[in-house]
Amino acid sequence: MHDFYADTKSIPTKPMLETILAASLGDEQKGEDPTTAALESRVAELLGKEAAIFMISGTMCNEIAVRVHCDPGDEVICDASSHLLNYECGSPAALSGVVMNTLQGRHGIFSIDDVRNAIRPISRYMPVSKMLLVEQTANLGGGAIWPLETIDAVAEEAKSAGLVTHMDGARLMNAVVKTGISAARYARDFDSVWIDFSKGLGAPCGAVLAGSAEFCEQAWRQKQALGGAMRQSGVLASTCLYALDNHIEQLAADNALAASIGERIKNLPGVINMLPVDSNIIIFDVSEKSPTAAEIVKLLQNEGVIIGAFGERRLRVVTCLNVNEASGEKLVQALTPLLND
Ligand SMILES: Cc1ncc(COP(=O)(O)O)c(C=O)c1O
Repeated sequence: MHDFYADTKSIPTKPMLETILAASLGDEQKGEDPTTAALESRVAELLGKEAAIFMISGTMCNEIAVRVHCDPGDEVICDASSHLLNYECGSPAALSGVVMNTLQGRHGIFSIDDVRNAIRPISRYMPVSKMLLVEQTANLGGGAIWPLETIDAVAEEAKSAGLVTHMDGARLMNAVVKTGISAARYARDFDSVWIDFSKGLGAPCGAVLAGSAEFCEQAWRQKQALGGAMRQSGVLASTCLYALDNHIEQLAADNALAASIGERIKNLPGVINMLPVDSNIIIFDVSEKSPTAAEIVKLLQNEGVIIGAFGERRLRVVTCLNVNEASGEKLVQALTPLLND
């Protein structure tokens, strides 16, 4: 199968898995796993933060950041399309008792005015505006890359009003390889930030959350409380270290493949709208004359191609190390007869 459903489906390569056999291991809960410690210090440096913690998933990084930064009744300001709001089971409310104030950004990217208007005055009646979330890249925004000046501006606005800032960097490294701007620079004004290893970087699971030493100490308590503390986690961390050494360039190839596939899909007559393809995600809408998104997914599956339906007429294609130019060719060839009117 040519699987374009999500970069989360990236399969660890054999050399990546071989690193597990050579990994030095210990009890992570006791701070005795050297491979995990090495990964944490590598990522702390990469993200320009004092410390970092290995987590089992990106969702756990987001949820723990909310728990550490916020008190019940506080408000998190974020784009309406954010993963934190839409795909984490309502956990900001369930685990941390916060409310979400959603902004209608463009492709997941909101402006300094949006933030200024959303921050509440100090009031006996209102929730406390506590945390600003930025998702780099913006997944449901079609993998849109936040321009640095916009990130800097919204973070500065939030911080000057006393909010904390958190970056969901699930695909931050896709932005880094595209723009040449370092991860640390993107994250400069963020109190916490994380990157995911289970997406384009190709590890089986794992994400690393970074921030100040004090933030990380509190985050460790939350990780323990939620059952996220591990034992010989070097088994996983070794695959993440391998990804840092060997798979960053792959992200550039993924971005380039998405751009070329996107260009070809955009020209099919049945495609009425495509979000700008900034990184490794292509989101497009098909006309009323075309089959529905669900029908297209089924028809493509019969041809050995997997993509995702995100609404009645919206489809998503994601590139990662599972697919190559030949897979792209197959996808476009299978889509063409379905979207030809
Ligand atoms: C933008 C974004 N944030 C967070 C997550 C959650 O990451 P994980 O699957 O590692 O929990 C995802 C997963 O797809 C994502 O796309």
